[in-house]
Amino acid sequence: MTAEPAVQSPLPADLHRDRLPHHVAVIMDGNGRWAQQRGLPRIMGHRRGVDTLKRLLRQCSDWGIGALTAYAFSTENWGRPLEEVGFLMTLFERVLRQELTEMMAENVRIQFVGNLSALPESLQGEIDRAMAATRHNAGIRFTVATNYGGRQEILQACRAIAAQVQRGELQPDDIDENLFGRHLYTADLRDPDLLIRTSGEMRISNFLLWQLAYAEIYVTQTLWPDFTALEFHQALQAYQGRDRRFGKVSPQ
Ligand code: IPE
Ligand code: IPE
Ligand code: MG
Repeated sequence: MTAEPAVQSPLPADLHRDRLPHHVAVIMDGNGRWAQQRGLPRIMGHRRGVDTLKRLLRQCSDWGIGALTAYAFSTENWGRPLEEVGFLMTLFERVLRQELTEMMAENVRIQFVGNLSALPESLQGEIDRAMAATRHNAGIRFTVATNYGGRQEILQACRAIAAQVQRGELQPDDIDENLFGRHLYTADLRDPDLLIRTSGEMRISNFLLWQLAYAEIYVTQTLWPDFTALEFHQALQAYQGRDRRFGKVSPQ
């Protein structure tokens, strides 16, 4: 049986191709509330959230956005009930296994960032497999932040740089923004242009602390499982209306 070719959705006419964000980051929040509002266990929200992420990835790819980074599990999320954490780890593993063929077909290059060595070994195995298989794909860069914490990322970069200084390979004056950025998990990705957070929370929750320095922030009340293509379109419209000054003044 041959699979139907995926139908590509064209870029809406009111979005300007040359003013799209190159890199979109998303804090996928509100899964638990989505489920609770329906009298369902929280994990049902996580399951639904996977479908939202799949649709968003497809949409970013169709519209020519070069990179999507999604916050899937924070270093603080270990503090949740054991069953929820266990469910999430199993869910990540299952989804990765199921989606690899489609990611290959759609030319997606997937990578994971975070303290991956603390994840269950079977999940680490799937992560390694997916990263290796898609390494040479030239389509969208899809980064999943798993057991990720911005402070932890900065600290591991500091340790690595300090060790180089101690060995005499580097002088303290050599440490600049460029060098520091190259020691982060996102070394080969440009900084996100747009950060989307669902479910209305006005905070960063330890996500990409260094990289979000000048990202435009879009917060919506919509809970992650309800985040639609239309809403992403609205986020991009809002982004295109922003005046990104980077500390300078706008030309008159
Ligand atoms: C985000 O949804 C998913 C993860 C953190 C894994 P939440 O689970 O945080 O949902 P709320 O915020 O409790 O509704
Ligand atoms: C942020 O959501 C982490 C992820 C989406 C993975 P949280 O639900 O953990 O954040 P807080 O607790 O509301 O700050
Ligand atoms: Mg939350």
